[in-house]
Amino acid sequence: MDKIVFIWMVNIFNFNFLAGQNSQQCTTEKRCQCKEVEPGLLADCSGLNLDFYPRFFDGIVTIDVSYNKLKDFPSTIDVPTTLKHLNLSGNLLRRIDTDKSRKLFSHINDLASLNLSSNLIPLDPNVYPADIFMNLTKLKSLDLTRNNITSVEFRTLDHVIKPLVSLEMFAIDGSEKISFGVGFGTLKYLWHLRLYGSCNRNRLLTIGKDYFDNLSNLRTLDISSEITRNFTTMDWTTSLCSLFYIHRGAISKLSHLKYLDISYNRELGLCGFSNITHDLPSTQIKIFRANYLHCNAGPSVTLFCDDIKPLTNTTLEELYFDGNNIDFAQTGVLYYLPVSLKRLTLRSNRWIQNRYTYCNTFGLTNLTYLDISDMNIHQISSDERYVDCLNFFRIINCEKLRSSSFGTSLNPRVWEACIEQCLKPQTIENFNAQTKRGEVYETSNISYPLTCSTPISFATNVNMFFVPRNLEHIVMNNSRLGHTLSYIYFASSNLKSLVLSHNQFYSLIGPICNATKLKYLDLSNNRCSYLSPYVFRELIALEKLILDNNLIGSAQILQEKNVRDLFSMQLKLKELSLASNGIKFLPTEIFRNLKKIRLLNLSKNQLSDWNVNLEHMRHLIYLDLSENQILFLSDSGMALIGSGFSKIFTIDLSINPIQCNCDSYSFILWLIKCKEKFKKFKQYTCSLMKPNITDIPNANIYLTKKCSSYVSLTVLAINFIICFLALLVIVIIYRNRWKLRYWYYIAKRQYFRGYNRVADEKRYRFDAFISYADEDRIFVTKSVKTKLEEEAGLRLCIHHRDFIPGCDIADNIINAIHQSRKVIFIITEAFLKSEWCMYELNMAHTENVISRQGTNMLILVFKEDIPQNRIPQKIQQIVQEEVYLDFPDDIEDEVIFWNHLTRSIL
Ligand SMILES: *[C@@H]1O[C@H](CO)[C@@H](O)[C@H](O)[C@H]1NC(C)=O
Ligand SMILES: *[C@@H]1O[C@H](CO)[C@@H](O)[C@H](O)[C@H]1NC(C)=O
Ligand SMILES: *[C@@H]1O[C@H](CO)[C@@H](O)[C@H](O)[C@H]1NC(C)=O
Ligand SMILES: *[C@@H]1O[C@H](CO)[C@@H](O)[C@H](O)[C@H]1NC(C)=O
Ligand SMILES: *[C@@H]1O[C@H](CO)[C@@H](O)[C@H](O)[C@H]1NC(C)=O
Ligand SMILES: *[C@@H]1O[C@H](CO)[C@@H](O)[C@H](O)[C@H]1NC(C)=O
Ligand SMILES: *[C@@H]1O[C@H](CO)[C@@H](O)[C@H](O)[C@H]1NC(C)=O
Ligand SMILES: *[C@@H]1O[C@H](CO)[C@@H](O)[C@H](O)[C@H]1NC(C)=O
Repeated sequence: MDKIVFIWMVNIFNFNFLAGQNSQQCTTEKRCQCKEVEPGLLADCSGLNLDFYPRFFDGIVTIDVSYNKLKDFPSTIDVPTTLKHLNLSGNLLRRIDTDKSRKLFSHINDLASLNLSSNLIPLDPNVYPADIFMNLTKLKSLDLTRNNITSVEFRTLDHVIKPLVSLEMFAIDGSEKISFGVGFGTLKYLWHLRLYGSCNRNRLLTIGKDYFDNLSNLRTLDISSEITRNFTTMDWTTSLCSLFYIHRGAISKLSHLKYLDISYNRELGLCGFSNITHDLPSTQIKIFRANYLHCNAGPSVTLFCDDIKPLTNTTLEELYFDGNNIDFAQTGVLYYLPVSLKRLTLRSNRWIQNRYTYCNTFGLTNLTYLDISDMNIHQISSDERYVDCLNFFRIINCEKLRSSSFGTSLNPRVWEACIEQCLKPQTIENFNAQTKRGEVYETSNISYPLTCSTPISFATNVNMFFVPRNLEHIVMNNSRLGHTLSYIYFASSNLKSLVLSHNQFYSLIGPICNATKLKYLDLSNNRCSYLSPYVFRELIALEKLILDNNLIGSAQILQEKNVRDLFSMQLKLKELSLASNGIKFLPTEIFRNLKKIRLLNLSKNQLSDWNVNLEHMRHLIYLDLSENQILFLSDSGMALIGSGFSKIFTIDLSINPIQCNCDSYSFILWLIKCKEKFKKFKQYTCSLMKPNITDIPNANIYLTKKCSSYVSLTVLAINFIICFLALLVIVIIYRNRWKLRYWYYIAKRQYFRGYNRVADEKRYRFDAFISYADEDRIFVTKSVKTKLEEEAGLRLCIHHRDFIPGCDIADNIINAIHQSRKVIFIITEAFLKSEWCMYELNMAHTENVISRQGTNMLILVFKEDIPQNRIPQKIQQIVQEEVYLDFPDDIEDEVIFWNHLTRSIL
């Protein structure tokens, strides 16, 4: 991380003790209906403003009458003897020694928990008779916190508590006037003690060495100071109930202690903290909470090895050390954390990157969770709530005291490692040696972009993370890290989640190396506007990636071709969040490899259409497109989203400026048709519609009427145009049918044999092709053949003789026509009826027109007298253009006819 800058954040603690306010209100009549959460077992009457007790039926096990206006205990007739849990907190009880309460406590002998906190019962030996809890031998939990603390000494509290032989949990306000006498020593199950509550001038300031002498069975001890709330401003403020001192030796008496909380004792400081760590090796401590031992605006403090050293020999698993204003630490301090440590939080400190960050923490093999968020947030804060930092001089004194073991001057010694092993491991030594020799900053011989296989010693700007071997979660929110996330290398890492939100990573370059097990990455709220195509390339195990609230919409990569590489290695990604990024346009290929994606969040962007295929996202169950700029989706947009529709898939299009008019009609229809796919469908509204219709179903009804005429007109017009064009084509084809057929056969010939235009007259194979009907076959073979072939010596093509058998008849005809100089048609009634004859006539005519430039190749011989009206128009037309001969009736004229015909052929 290049730079660390500072930002402010307030922790908000949510205490919700006003539960049950939505319960039924009571009337003046005595019967009050309380909410029965578990019928017959729990009567929940909290927060009903009751000033009387309702009657509780037999069998009720738990009665909660907290936060009412009750002034006295319930009478025995109201409460079943079977009662186990009684919550009377937040009422107006003043005394506990009344007849009523005495009767009650001897009546409910099975009671297991009793809560009397937040009442007005003074902690006073006169109010608490020694025998008051005599019969509650089964009581396990007793809460007396937040009652009035009086100035009367209460040295006999142990007499009151002693009969509670089953007691496990005891909570009471810390007061100078109270002590835990020998009576407590007899309670062998008293494992949990909470010492906090209201405070006044009698509050507990010092826990002496002997304070816990009679509480040696304690497993958990909570001496954290309470945070109070100002209900006018609804702000949490620190209370002034803090402890000032806790002497060495006090905690060491608690040899069974597993849980200790000393948080929010803002006067205690690190001196109190180190008094406690000193004692912890004598306990069985597992969880230690030591948050906010200073006021927020207090001076920075130093953490010394001696403060932490005793922890080495403990079995501590969780250490919470937030908000302690630590900026410097003695190099090596982390070395003393115990091996058993699993969770460590150091939030809201003033830690700065320094040599101790490179210290050996590899020994912490059990550490899985590390939170170092909210670093240095104090620097620009000037929150006035914390100006009354009372303990400023005590802190300074404490610093002096703790550093005095180092001799005169503080700071020079801080820089010395308190332990040599700190810098031992090979990698770090190498790294440091390289740094000293300047190799790390060597820039020659580096090829860009860097890849994870680039040798580290040659890479510039390498950010080495020396983290313990089994660390799985690192949280570094809101620590002003930035501004470039460049080459990061996690040395020996099992990292599973990395949270870096609310920082200042303006550009994500990467690569992020040796984090191949990383499943969760949060880079939200970074104002990032630059992404390199390989930033996520090594993160092949990633399952959830959060990039919300950045400026990715203006990142250059969205315009570039290599955007397809950006998420190309995230084959396991299940959830991707890109909300609030100002994205106007999504490149088609950006998600092409996200085959396992389940949730895709693109809400709060500026998308106006959809152009990414969802078909390969077989597991997609939710696509969030709410709060974008979609007027309506194009047909392709709908199709692409439709490609992702599966049984469980839903999509959110709420808060888009949906347009409802005839242009978007198909979109509206699509919405209606697939409405079960749309989340929050009822909230989708039409924007800017006239008349004022807002919901989609009504808009659909309106548009169906309005757009149907429009649609049918369009359809009609299109149909008409299509019909017209079809007709035109048919007419053209019909008119040119012979030409088309002719060309078809010519093309066919050309394709198979090669077409030669027969320009040379000598190349005709035949002098004449005789076209006739089968009925006239005798005439042709007897007369025509004899006269023309045998007597005149002409070569004739006669179909029954010269056609090539096996060939298509149409092909034969075309060939015959094509290879003959003239075509003679023997026109008879039979000819006119024969389809093939008419075919020959038409083809020959076409050939004449197209190939022979109208050289009169047709000769029509009318063998019979055919009335004019029976002759088809086509033949009449040919007769006008071509040679025609009538076959004579008498034999003499035949000679002239044959001569005439022979001449015509030649
Ligand atoms: C305790 O309970 C017994 C009967 O269970 C009763 O006789 C006795 O008076 C009770 N003592 C007190 C102090 O209520
Ligand atoms: C308890 O505290 C309240 C408010 O702080 C006060 O009005 C009341 O007098 C106190 N009661 C006793 C018995 O000290
Ligand atoms: C709560 O805050 C208001 C406004 O700052 C102040 O006037 C009031 O005294 C505060 N109340 C308490 C109990 O601190
Ligand atoms: C720490 O313990 C020592 C010795 O018991 C005591 O003198 C000192 O006041 C304690 N400091 C704090 C801050 O509790
Ligand atoms: C931890 O315990 C061992 C053995 O009991 C001892 O030698 C060592 O000094 C202790 N370490 C610390 C820091 O107290
Ligand atoms: C580390 O954790 C494992 C499993 O939780 C546990 O068995 C082991 O004892 C721990 N090691 C130490 C030194 O506490
Ligand atoms: C990470 O780096 C360490 C040391 O360089 C190496 O031993 C380890 O195998 C690497 N882990 C992964 C998951 O690549
Ligand atoms: C349209 O109708 C909605 C409620 O149906 C109403 O809130 C809104 O003011 C109306 N807008 C116009 C311009 O009439």
